[in-house]
Amino acid sequence: MGNVITVMNMKGGVGKTTVTMHLAGIFARHQIGGRFRNVLMIDYDPQFNLSQAFIPPKTYFSLEKQRRTGLSILQDDEVDLNPFQIQVGGNLRPPELSDLVHSVYKLKHSRLDIVPSTLNLMYVALGQSEKRTAPLEERFEKFIGQCREEYDLVFIDCHPAGSILTKTSLQNSDHVIIPVSPQRYATRGIWLMMRFIEAKKPGTTGPTPHILFNSAPRFGRSRDEREIRADPKWAKRCMTTTMKWYTAFSEPLDGDGFVWSSNRPYSKEATRNLLSLAAELAERMDDKDET
Ligand SMILES: Nc1ncnc2c1ncn2[C@@H]1O[C@H](COP(=O)(O)OP(=O)(O)OP(=O)(O)O)[C@@H](O)[C@H]1O
Ligand SMILES: [Mg+2]
Repeated sequence: MGNVITVMNMKGGVGKTTVTMHLAGIFARHQIGGRFRNVLMIDYDPQFNLSQAFIPPKTYFSLEKQRRTGLSILQDDEVDLNPFQIQVGGNLRPPELSDLVHSVYKLKHSRLDIVPSTLNLMYVALGQSEKRTAPLEERFEKFIGQCREEYDLVFIDCHPAGSILTKTSLQNSDHVIIPVSPQRYATRGIWLMMRFIEAKKPGTTGPTPHILFNSAPRFGRSRDEREIRADPKWAKRCMTTTMKWYTAFSEPLDGDGFVWSSNRPYSKEATRNLLSLAAELAERMDDKDET
């Protein structure tokens, strides 16, 4: 059974998508903790930035036209889409994995796949529902059940808001990576996230949060990072390894420019950074090769 990881922060632009694409890639491409992994990314953000990083426009529009996107996990059809009203159908069965998954990287021992997003997911993100949204939640849960059978790791890239999307993602995850970039009010974002995580899994311990300092300076620590690490409430939740600021991390587009797949010399440091980060995450998830 695979591990499911939500990447989330209510604050926008902190690096959720960047962290998702690089961690997912390094886990598929390199042996971390002694093994390769089959990895799935679910782009659960209507902005579809993760999809754009991996899929060239022609292919993307073709997939969207065939409804091979995350919206189909929740809804069967896209008629009468209304920004103020979520469509809640009666069918509780989500599509088969093979109907939605698009392969972006294949190796001898592992693969990296994606369920792309669509701007139309915004109708679900914004809408309210007079009917209960339970059918959507049930479909998402069943879909994640299929993913756990098929993949070792599933990353879900969320949009920066509280919605049925972020709620269902958290409810079905074992871990939450909270990227934090060194900026004022970073602490506010963490508070909100912790409250949200607790509220969304009442009566259970919920997914385990991991605070990841992103765009960190190559040497030393920012004031915000020092403050957050010094707080006893959060100290244990903070990953020791930080994701540094490297131009190379901002370059992927249309399936090209990933540091984990390229041999360009300037990205070696960034790749090393990523390898350390993935190794720590595997440890924290207790996801190692036991053989
Ligand atoms: N470690 C890093 N090094 C260099 N650039 C980075 C790094 N992390 C993020 N960026 C850049 O910062 C910008 C915001 O990152 P990203 O889109 O991943 O944030 P996000 O949290 O997913 O945003 P949103 O809330 O809109 O979904 C992007 O241009 C990205 O390339
Ligand atoms: Mg994003």
